Amino acid sequence: MIAAVPDPDPQEEEGSELELIEIELLLEAVHRRYAFDFRDYAPAVLRRRLWRRAQAEGVRTLSGLQERVLHDPAAMERLLLDLSVTTTSMFRDPGFWLAFREKVVPILRTYPFVRIWSAGCSTGEETYSIAIVLQEEGLLDRSRIYATDINAAVLARARNGMFPLARMREANANYLRAGGARAFSDYYISGYDHARFCRPLCDNVVWAQHNLVSDASFNEFHVILCRNVLIYFGKPLQDRVHALLHESLAPFGFLALGSRETLRFAARETDYAPVVEAERLYRRVA
Ligand SMILES: C[S@@+](CC[C@H](N)C(=O)[O-])C[C@H]1O[C@@H](n2cnc3c(N)ncnc32)[C@H](O)[C@@H]1O
Repeated sequence: MIAAVPDPDPQEEEGSELELIEIELLLEAVHRRYAFDFRDYAPAVLRRRLWRRAQAEGVRTLSGLQERVLHDPAAMERLLLDLSVTTTSMFRDPGFWLAFREKVVPILRTYPFVRIWSAGCSTGEETYSIAIVLQEEGLLDRSRIYATDINAAVLARARNGMFPLARMREANANYLRAGGARAFSDYYISGYDHARFCRPLCDNVVWAQHNLVSDASFNEFHVILCRNVLIYFGKPLQDRVHALLHESLAPFGFLALGSRETLRFAARETDYAPVVEAERLYRRVA
């Protein structure tokens, strides 16, 4: 039987020196073998999740987890799922979507073509939300949405566009609070206990695996949504990803962060002006 592993509090002591060595070696091994770079992710979250995976794999130490992952790509896939927090929902933080409709859409209307990057899109709820907003605002036909994530498994689910019916029904309240003028159910076809988004919604979406830590900029965007991703990174890594986002954003493009993320005190703070600070909506000004 495997002993239960305590769930460390982020504020708790940082673990033994031996554990720190094992974590460093494991992350280095993952980086060198698979090119996934978790070395600068927030340490408390990492530690908790590594131990959870070690327990699930039935190994007693983090060195044991390193051996498992190095020799078994399927174990790496499982670790990847554990290391990336993929929690998301349709029209998450409705106030943000309302601000997007009111402040960003009128400016996008003046562009002949709109490129949007949903970075760290997880299972696609954010991407479908923006597609719905663009459709309602008459912009979807002249938009392309690039939806990327480090994790191939969540991307496959996103691309599939199928969600539990109960979650779709729950989404209706957020959709209305986000300024939706129809019924959310207009956008999907329901089967027994699942529902699938109607096709035209994702015709202009490009789904692709992209690692914000190690991959380069791949286009110039008018809007970048990178919400609830940076919160899991340490400060130096956040700064590095901010450099990538800045490089990928067109002059006067819009950047959206998650509700617990801010540009205040970030290395790039002066390159942006807040559009609605409370909703973490910014505009590139330099
Ligand atoms: C909490 S979810 C956020 C989903 C969505 N943006 C939202 O706000 O609802 C974070 C996502 O970031 C992805 N992620 C983590 N590290 C990443 C990286 N280095 N590059 C790209 N995506 C990453 C995870 O796989 C996960 O799907």
